[in-house]
Amino acid sequence: MSAQIEKAAALLRQGELVAFPTETVYGLGADASNPVAVAKVFAAKGRPADHPLIVHIPGVEHLERWAREIPETAYALAKAFWPGPLTLILKRQPSVPDAVTGGQDTVGVRVPGHPLALELLKAFDGGIAAPSANRFGHVSPTTAQHVHDELGAAVAMVLDGGPCRVGIESTIVDLTGSQSRILRPGMIGAADLGRVLGRAPGTGGESAPRVSGSLESHYAPGTDLALLQPDVVIFAVREALAADQRIGVIAPMACPLSDERIVWRQIAGDAAGFAHDIYALLRELDGLGLARIVVQKPPQSENWRAVNDRLQRAVAGSGAA
Ligand code: TXA
Ligand code: MG
Repeated sequence: MSAQIEKAAALLRQGELVAFPTETVYGLGADASNPVAVAKVFAAKGRPADHPLIVHIPGVEHLERWAREIPETAYALAKAFWPGPLTLILKRQPSVPDAVTGGQDTVGVRVPGHPLALELLKAFDGGIAAPSANRFGHVSPTTAQHVHDELGAAVAMVLDGGPCRVGIESTIVDLTGSQSRILRPGMIGAADLGRVLGRAPGTGGESAPRVSGSLESHYAPGTDLALLQPDVVIFAVREALAADQRIGVIAPMACPLSDERIVWRQIAGDAAGFAHDIYALLRELDGLGLARIVVQKPPQSENWRAVNDRLQRAVAGSGAA
């Protein structure tokens, strides 16, 4: 085991915060069995205390420490997708601190698919409660630098595992009801889950924000953000130039105009490639003091569902800075 993993595990045991990479986004980790440590996560993020955190575990064999009355479907999904970008909502063990679950009778658990996260979890040999390592409501971090920029002083240590492979947060599936339900879409889609469950999961349904990522406004940059159809993107750019404004564009096509007031970032035309880069690009453009950021609206098909979900919430929350 490397010295830095050993140090990170020791810090967690002392009740300190350690940010670490996962395959989805960087997490802000605390010892999930220590309410005082978990309270530091909420303070660092500026997150409301009733929003529950995901418990990261080293393997499915730890599941029963956190959850009870675990249905067979949980083991089937774990076998198919863990380690990986899937969070299961299950009934919690009474020993799980209220600080982790937001006082609910359920707990969110996942085994992350990143070698450094798994090393840390194995060294720590416990559950690490970790939300995305960003200020509440803001864009999730996909590099260690993003975490330094955003939370710097609040974290005892940031483990650097390079850019995240998936780039947007895990799919969250609630297995506590009579039918499984997707609470937050992710890159593991309804069809993938349905193949394992033998039946497509339901979606949404509840109005209360049990999932803070389901708030209408979330994942948002401070700059005004618009999601526009391809033909309207160029129109918006011309409009900005006419007003002598600087504008940022994220689109799969190359920039057709040459003007230094345009900051154009090409992004992949497929959902996985788009998800991989979107947060980093939003964050980069958000730091440039632009009048506006325009993202070309992706297709509305099922494989783009998670990306479209995040983009809509980012638009709803944008422009607050
Ligand atoms: O990919 C991810 O899931 C990342 C990485 C770090 O694992 N984590 C993440 O955490 O996105 P966070 O806290 O930003 O979002 C987790 C979501 C929240 O919206 C929270 O409300 C929900 O999971 N959640 C956690 N426990 C829950 C529970 N018992 N019932 C319903 N929702 C829950
Ligand atoms: Mg988050």
